[in-house]
This record gives sequence, C-alpha cells and structure tokens, in this order.
Amino acid sequence: MSVSAALDASKTASIIADFPILARKTSRGKRLVYLDSAATSQKPNPVIDTLVQYYREYNANVHRGVYEIASRATDAFELSRAKVADFIGARSDELIWTRNTTEAINLVSASWGAANIRSGDAILLSELEHHSNLVPWQLLAERTGAHLRFIPVDERGLLVLDDLDRLLDGVKLVAITHVSNTLGTIVPLDRIIARAHAAGAVVLVDGAQGAPHLAVDVKALDADFYAMSGHKMLAPTGIGALYGKRELLDAMPPFLAGGDMIRRVEYRHTTFNDVPWKFEAGTGNIADAIGYGVACDYLANLDMTWVREHERRLSDYAFQRLAELEPRGLAIYGPRNASLVSGAISFNFADIHAHDLASILDTEGVCVRAGHHCTMPLMDKMGWAATARASFYVYNDERDVDALIDALEKAAVIFKL
Ligand code: ALA
Repeated sequence: MSVSAALDASKTASIIADFPILARKTSRGKRLVYLDSAATSQKPNPVIDTLVQYYREYNANVHRGVYEIASRATDAFELSRAKVADFIGARSDELIWTRNTTEAINLVSASWGAANIRSGDAILLSELEHHSNLVPWQLLAERTGAHLRFIPVDERGLLVLDDLDRLLDGVKLVAITHVSNTLGTIVPLDRIIARAHAAGAVVLVDGAQGAPHLAVDVKALDADFYAMSGHKMLAPTGIGALYGKRELLDAMPPFLAGGDMIRRVEYRHTTFNDVPWKFEAGTGNIADAIGYGVACDYLANLDMTWVREHERRLSDYAFQRLAELEPRGLAIYGPRNASLVSGAISFNFADIHAHDLASILDTEGVCVRAGHHCTMPLMDKMGWAATARASFYVYNDERDVDALIDALEKAAVIFKL
C-alpha cells in the first residue's frame, strides 16, 4: 500500500467511526455495506447531535420571538445559511432554503420561468436529466408555449457538445445537471456555461449530485442558479438550497406566499421581504437547516479536494473489480473512467433483473438502488429496462467494493452464470 493510500485508509476509518448506522448489522447479521448515497447519504454524529440539541435546548420559531431561545434558533438558522452559502462560494443573501433540489428547481421554473419564458422561447436541457430537472420545464413549456431542446448523450453516457452553439440559438434558459445520478457522468459545465451566456441564456445547474462530491464555486462556474439537497451531502432530509445571482432573485416574483416572506400586508396589498426571505413562506425546516450547516462544516473539514480524490480512487477500484465479472455477463454502463464519473456506477448482470439482483445483494448486507433512477427518458434512449447502481461517498472504502463483488459472485452462483 502506498503512503497516500495508507493515509486515505486511516482517514476513511476515522470517518466511518462518525457514522453510527455503519456499525449496525442487518437482520441477517451482515455488515451494512451502504452503496446508495446517490439516493441519500448517511448522517454523521455531529449532524445527528445538532438535531437532538435543537429540540432539547432551543426549539423555537425563527424571525419572530424576542425571547432567548427564539434568538438562539434564529442565529443558528441564519449562521447555517451562511455556512451552506460559503460551502459553494456564495453569499448568504443569495441562498434560499428549500425542501430539496426538486423544490429549488420548481421555484425557478414557477417564478423566473413565469416572468421570463414566453411562447416560442426555447429551453435547453440534456438527455441525462433527472425527472426533477425535466418535468418542471415540461410543465412550464406547456403553460407558456415554449419548447424544449436536448443536448444529446452518447452511448458512453457523455454529453455530445459538438452542436452546442446551434442548440443554444434562441435559448432563454439552460437547465443542466452537474453530475448524472444514474451514470455518475460529470458534466463539463465549464464548456457549457460561458457559451450559454454568450448566447444570452440564463443557466440553472441541478447540483443534487454535484455539491456532495465536487468542490463547487458558483462564482467561478458563473452559474445563475445552483440547486442542491442537504440529504445527499450528510445533512437531514427535507432541507435543500437554491443559490441564485442576487440581481435575478431581486427581479423574480415570490414563489409561495404566506408568513415571513412579507414586509407589510394590507387587506388588498402586500409588499415583500428582501431576498432570500421573500422566497421562504411559512415556518421552515429549522432543525434540519441548522444540521445542513453542520454537514457542510464536516465536508469542508474533510476538504472537498480529498473527497473527490477519495471517490475517484474508489471508482477506479470498483471499475477494475467489476470488470472481473464481465466474462460472466456483467455489463457496466456510463463512461467507465474514474476521472469522468463521480461516485455512481450503473450495471446489470447477465439477464438477472436489476431488482432481483438488488434483493440478492441485500441478503449480503449490500445496499444498492435498482430501477430507472428517476431518469426514464435516459433509460429508454439507452435501451435499458432497469439498472443496478452502486454509489459511493466519504464513508465507503475498498472493503465495500469487495463486499459488492462477493455478493455479485453469490448472485452468479444462484443464477448459474
Ligand atoms: N435522485 C435520487 C437517486 O438518484 C433519489 O437515487
């Protein structure tokens, strides 16, 4: 083992110790081998402790009460906003709390879209998109008479950018994923955003699978909007965030209406609060928002450059080990190059249905997702009914890849491959 691999192993061991669920055994007495972080990540002790501490010590609503625990809740809620914003290189007045990436994209579609998209306008997506970054734009196009275009994906799962300038002609909005949740493909945003801006388009990035795995700097990317989910990056479920350039957010109408998003309400008229609160109607997900800041602290402390390198090394190892099973019918999808993917690998094994395969892996304690991964159009285009997907994060190591391979070997025996 090289010195850097040994250091990585010791760092990973100390990370694993922070995740209590990973010390649990399954009901069959197997070690829990969690390879489904693209669906949701596990949570470290500091995040879990933060939730418990909020409910035990200072549970109160924010931006309302003047008493001590209400002030403490407000301060923690807003400090957390600043931490999450800082994690992606943004300012806190550019970061709106949402429930998740889906809600963040719906916010832009409903608010910016309604104000800016007209009949005949074009919206450019890619063929890699998750339903969350597809269906909101379909609905907007139906409402407004706009039409959708798609950057094609090739058989390796890479975007084909040769025709990008033609595709961008007349486009008002580009909405594109940072990382494919199904294939792990890292989208070369640096090759897309500047050209989209030159064509006069606004760019929204679906960062659900990007922010957890890659060092993100929204200013360097020059993204106009960046949407993300806490639960995929060690934070609780039910909390996400939308970054938007301040001038865009200021010009956008509110999304949901109610308390906290107002400055003054009369019976027939309302003036709205400043950004970001203008977009945060009603009592938010306070404890989980505070937990999101703690999760970002945890990741920042690990260093996102290390996170990327750790996952690149693990993906490389997984590609090597999975390739051993190719003679027995294992098919690996996507770019098959650890430098081009981030933390997710899709595959099928001979003619075993992906759901059956996932169930067999489960008997060995190995958790993978099977199905269409909320990317039905991509699956249709590729001609796959379903795939199994193993996805990695900071708490996975080579033992987990080995456990996956051992479980696949068991499936091969069961199915006489
Ligand atoms: N979007 C999540 C996934 O890909 C749920 O699994």
